[in-house]
Amino acid sequence: MQSRQITRDTLLTEDPEILEDLGVIHDDDDLPSNDSGNTPFAEIAETRMSRRGVLAGLAGAATVALMGQTMVSRRALAAGAKSSLTFTETPHVYDATHHVAPGYDANVLLRWGDAVEAGAPAFDPMNQTAAAQAKQFGYNCDYIGFLPLPAGSNNGDRGLLTVNHEYTSQHLMFPDVTRKQKLTRAQTEIEMAAHGHSIVEIVKQGGSWTVVKDSKYNRRIHVGTPMKISGPASGHDRLKTNADATGMAAIGTINNCAGGHTPWGTVLIAEENFHGYFGGNPAKTSEARNYKRYGLKAKSRYSWADYHDRFNLDTEPNEPNRFGWMVEIDPYNPDLTPVKRTALGRFKHEGATTVINKDGRVVVYTGDDQRFDYIYKFVSNGRYDANDRAANSALLDNGTLFVAKFSADGTLDWMPLVWGTGPLTAANGFNSQADVLIETRHAADLLGATPMDRPEDVEPNPVTGTVYVMLTNNTRRKANQVDAVNPRAKNKHGHILEMIPPGRGKDADHAAPQFKWEVPLMAGNPANAADGAKYHAGVSANGWLSTPDNCAFDTKGRLWIATDGAPKSGIADGVWATDVEGDGRMLTKRFFAAPRGAELCGPSFAPDDRTFFGAVQHPADEKNSTFANPSTRWPDFKDDMPTRPSVVVVTKSDGGVIGS
Ligand code: FEO
Ligand code: CA
Ligand code: CA
Repeated sequence: MQSRQITRDTLLTEDPEILEDLGVIHDDDDLPSNDSGNTPFAEIAETRMSRRGVLAGLAGAATVALMGQTMVSRRALAAGAKSSLTFTETPHVYDATHHVAPGYDANVLLRWGDAVEAGAPAFDPMNQTAAAQAKQFGYNCDYIGFLPLPAGSNNGDRGLLTVNHEYTSQHLMFPDVTRKQKLTRAQTEIEMAAHGHSIVEIVKQGGSWTVVKDSKYNRRIHVGTPMKISGPASGHDRLKTNADATGMAAIGTINNCAGGHTPWGTVLIAEENFHGYFGGNPAKTSEARNYKRYGLKAKSRYSWADYHDRFNLDTEPNEPNRFGWMVEIDPYNPDLTPVKRTALGRFKHEGATTVINKDGRVVVYTGDDQRFDYIYKFVSNGRYDANDRAANSALLDNGTLFVAKFSADGTLDWMPLVWGTGPLTAANGFNSQADVLIETRHAADLLGATPMDRPEDVEPNPVTGTVYVMLTNNTRRKANQVDAVNPRAKNKHGHILEMIPPGRGKDADHAAPQFKWEVPLMAGNPANAADGAKYHAGVSANGWLSTPDNCAFDTKGRLWIATDGAPKSGIADGVWATDVEGDGRMLTKRFFAAPRGAELCGPSFAPDDRTFFGAVQHPADEKNSTFANPSTRWPDFKDDMPTRPSVVVVTKSDGGVIGS
């Protein structure tokens, strides 16, 4: 229905030949880099066939016809089923602006270039500077956290909005710059300042949200911000550089994708596709095995190494080991240095969601978002103390990281990544726990972890305790690589996975070594049998989705799903909501549609469920779309203003609870 999209997700997913047809030279820096040979368990699909008929119907392309029949019979059985979500769906569209369900208001709160820190100049897109950008809202907003003010309260009317800036789209940021062009030093340094994170105080007055100008909390974090490195890899030789002989003090954070806030009111932000920022030749460093597994190439899509030696592997071979971590930030205390928590592992973290286990230990779920990579959890040694924030943060330095291995019988084993156990020994190049964490992926390969279809958000449901994984897509999974938990070859639409700990709700044991699992939703269009979709039978023509990426739960435990890549199926990315239990289980309803070219990231609620936040990332990122001639000028629609990635705030027009 629209001209073919070339979004960032296209770059991440498509075959190089297709991209070349579209005029994009693919530098394949997000192609799968897992050649561990961890084979999906094809035979498992057969076993699951008898256990879960509908799921098993998805086990391979050959069974798609069977799936179609199954969907028909489920539709009949489910007549009269009902969602608890009362809103009327917004229809599938693909156009220049955003849309929300009737009876709701969606307003733009923060745009690229808006003032964050005191003294920030007004945004002037034709005269950008790094100094201005370092005080302004960055590019390509992603994760959003809302942390109430006062600290520790459940206030839904005032708080700190903490927002990631994942990456930059140079052809939409700068006049007369193409997608692949090398940038000037000045442009490069603007890009570096546009990465990272923003913290702003916001307040709701008269039903409308505004940014509190010059709040003491307002703060930008970027590629130049000093950071500490803590946990088992801190101080290791492989983290030392010319600028930091201690291996304990990194500079900056990059490719901050999703994240999560902790129960003690800090924020964990992910370093995802860190591999793309380095020049020089990774194969010629002493870290060649390590860097190959993380997809580093001799050619960088960024120009940073041209102007800053620390991004040049030929002069700073260890710098990439200082990225790929989860970074903890205390938004309530601007004087505290952010900390890279190495115990949570090093990979292409999508985000991290923290839960206090029933025994007081802290469990953090985190996905490695690449085709055929893995799902992890961290379990702390110590226990949460409601009266000691600093001690709670330190819990993230001492514990065990586990990787998920799924089995045919519906169980999931968490395999500990502990140095000196099993294959994680000197014989395989691991001489310490630091080595295990620096090369988390390789360690997980050796443990036989299950390769997944791009694990993005991994979040526990606050009501049921079941942990949800958004598996966004994997068009490279071949028919002989399907398994029960990734049951679709050429998985264009992605699916949703439930990981079910023993116990329920507050009694759930997130630290347990074995969970159960289910696949309750296969995305795609149920009207198209070839998609092999699976939803509640009552899903409407607007209720189907594609490419689940981020998610959030409201306080009722309903799932809100954000997508990245639905335009490739002819519909705008956006937000869908569903019950996870009862009559409305997986009866997804479209709530929000993003403007063309954009994905929707960072879904998040205020604690009273009366405000929903979403990040519109890379609007207008389509073929032939440029700074001067973008395919949409969302959100300002002014001829002298480029398109701007922005945070949207959604409220119900009557001030009520979102979704009701
Ligand atoms: Fe940055 Fe996995 O999306
Ligand atoms: Ca994402
Ligand atoms: Ca994504």
